[in-house]
Amino acid sequence: MSGRADRPRVLLLCGGRSAEHDVSLASARSLLGETAGRLDWRPQVIDRDGTWLSAAASARRLAGEAPTRNDAGAAPVFDPALLDDVDVVFPLLHGPYGEDGRIQGALDVLGVRYVGSGVHGSAVGMDKPTMKAVFAAAGLPQVAYAGVTRDAWRRAPSEVDERLDALGWPVFVKPANLGSSIGIARADRRDARAAALSAAFAYDRRVIVEQAFVDGRELEVAVLGLDEPEVSVVGEIRFATEFYDYDTKYTMGRARLDVPADLPSDVADACRDLARHAFLAADAAGLARVDLFWSPERDELVVNEINTMPGFTATSMYPRLWAASGLPYPDLAARLVDLALVDR
Ligand SMILES: Nc1ncnc2c1ncn2[C@@H]1O[C@H](COP(=O)(O)OP(=O)(O)O)[C@@H](O)[C@H]1O
Ligand SMILES: [Mg+2]
Repeated sequence: MSGRADRPRVLLLCGGRSAEHDVSLASARSLLGETAGRLDWRPQVIDRDGTWLSAAASARRLAGEAPTRNDAGAAPVFDPALLDDVDVVFPLLHGPYGEDGRIQGALDVLGVRYVGSGVHGSAVGMDKPTMKAVFAAAGLPQVAYAGVTRDAWRRAPSEVDERLDALGWPVFVKPANLGSSIGIARADRRDARAAALSAAFAYDRRVIVEQAFVDGRELEVAVLGLDEPEVSVVGEIRFATEFYDYDTKYTMGRARLDVPADLPSDVADACRDLARHAFLAADAAGLARVDLFWSPERDELVVNEINTMPGFTATSMYPRLWAASGLPYPDLAARLVDLALVDR
C-alpha cells in the first residue's frame, strides 16, 4: 500500500454474474459520472458469464455499447495484475458472487482493501435463513419464519406442510440466496404455497417461508461506517402492486421513493435504532441498507432484511437517503473509499 497517490486509485467491479447485472452497471455509471474528479477510477466489467472484460471492452460496455467480438480478448478469470496499481477495490456487485462474500474472500486472499462488508458480513446478509438467525440471536424483532430444504420437500411434503401451517396465512416464500425479489411469491393457501415452494426450489436448495407482515409500510434506512455506524433519515417505498416484486423494483414509475418518509419522529428513531443494531449484528461494514416493515395500526416494527451492497445510482434509495441526511453523492462515495482504508 506504499506510495498511494492523492486521489485513491479504485478498481470498480461492476456487472457480474447475478440477475442484478444491469442494476450494477447503472450504479457504476452514476458513480463514475458523479465522482470523476474525486477518485481515480479503473472500471472493470464482469460479464454475465463471469468473464472479466478487458479495460477497453469494459469502457465500451459502460458506454452502453452492445458486446462485440472484440470483447473476446478478456480474461476468463480474475487477473491479479489488475490490482497492481490499485489502492482499493469497490465491488459494486449485487447478489450471488458479488454481495455474498465470494469476491470478498478472493480479495482477502490477494491482500487488497475493498469497500463494504467482509466475507462474514456479506455472507450473513445474503443468506436469508442465516441473516434471520443472527437477527433473532441479537433480539431484533422479525416475522415468524421456517426454513425448508429441497430434499425435505421431496421426501416428506406432508410433514413440511404441517410444520409450515403453524405460520398461518398468508406467507411469503423465498429462495435463501437471491435478491431483487426473484423467486419470491406470496401464498394464501396450501396449494399456492406448494407451487411457490416448487418455484423457489428451482433457484435454491434452501427456501425460507415467513409470515406476511400485513398492512405494513416498507421503510428503509441507510447505514454508513464501521464499529460506530451512522444512520440516515428513513425512506419509504410506495407502490400499487401486491408486493415489491421485480417489475415494480425495476420498471420506471412503478414505485415511488419518499425521502424522508412521512412518519412520527419516534417511529423514525426506532427505525434508525433497529437499522444500526441490524448492521452490527450482521457484522456489516462500510455500507448497508436495512429494510423494515411498520404497521401504523398495530404500531409494530420489524426488520425485513439487510442489503450489504445496495443499489447505488443517483436515484437509488441508499444515496438518496444520505443526500437527504446532508451527505451528497460524491462525498458519500469518497467516504466509502476512505472507510475501506481504515485499519480496524
Ligand atoms: N414477510 C413479509 N411480509 C410482507 N411483505 C413481504 C414479506 N417478505 C417480503 N415481502 C415483500 O417482498 C419484497 C421482497 O422481499 P425481500 O425479503 O426484501 O427479498 P429481496 O432480497 O429479493 O429484496 C419486499 O420488499 C416486500 O414487498
Ligand atoms: Mg428486499
